[in-house]
Amino acid sequence: MDIDKLKALVAEAAVTEIRSNLTPNSVLGIGTGSTTNIFIERLGTIKEEFEGAVASSKASEKKLIEAGIRVYDINSLKKIDVYVDGADEADRNLCLTKGGGGALTREKIVSSAAEKFICIIDYTKEVETLGKFPIPIEVIPMAMSLVEKRIHLMGGFVTHREGFITDNGNIILDAHNLDIPNPLMIEDLINGIPGVVTVGLFAKERPDLLLIAMPDGKIQTKQQHVIS
Ligand code: A5P
Repeated sequence: MDIDKLKALVAEAAVTEIRSNLTPNSVLGIGTGSTTNIFIERLGTIKEEFEGAVASSKASEKKLIEAGIRVYDINSLKKIDVYVDGADEADRNLCLTKGGGGALTREKIVSSAAEKFICIIDYTKEVETLGKFPIPIEVIPMAMSLVEKRIHLMGGFVTHREGFITDNGNIILDAHNLDIPNPLMIEDLINGIPGVVTVGLFAKERPDLLLIAMPDGKIQTKQQHVIS
């Protein structure tokens, strides 16, 4: 089945998953990307069933408004019921690479603040080991060469997304060729480099639930478990 069709099916499955728990007071956290965009469109059709949403990027905020969904400032809220977002890669422990769209920092803030994180992907994003998709890193511009050198010491190299500025006014470096058998450790290591705002590894903040659209259109469900 075509990938866009699979994205639509998994977005629809996420709507079904959250719908029974929605109340007029529910506030949803919304990710960024093409899969999430379809989710936002579907959400627009049931907008009377919940209070509103928090966006993880200016792009998603615009989409939410277009869908007629109320958008809230995260700092004005007591609670975010559930966060729904896509990913660039997912391993079997539900550790993710995110940030292909450059929204990783806000995505990590909103997913961490939410009570539940549901990740929606198609089967092409499932991998044995993270790292084939370059790891996005949001960096304060002054730290660009320092981060480049540190990634080099780790055995990788970075490319700079020329002309791309994040919603927070920073740059994105994509780290290639990194061996990531232990995403938790690498997430800590990269986050510890001065000038790194966020790395796009979501190992500490894994989803509670991963919905995967399989090639035949069936939806596979994986729950978070303790990493042994
Ligand atoms: C945005 O910064 C990313 O984290 C997206 O969630 C990720 O790139 C997946 O996007 P698609 O749904 O467009 O594949």
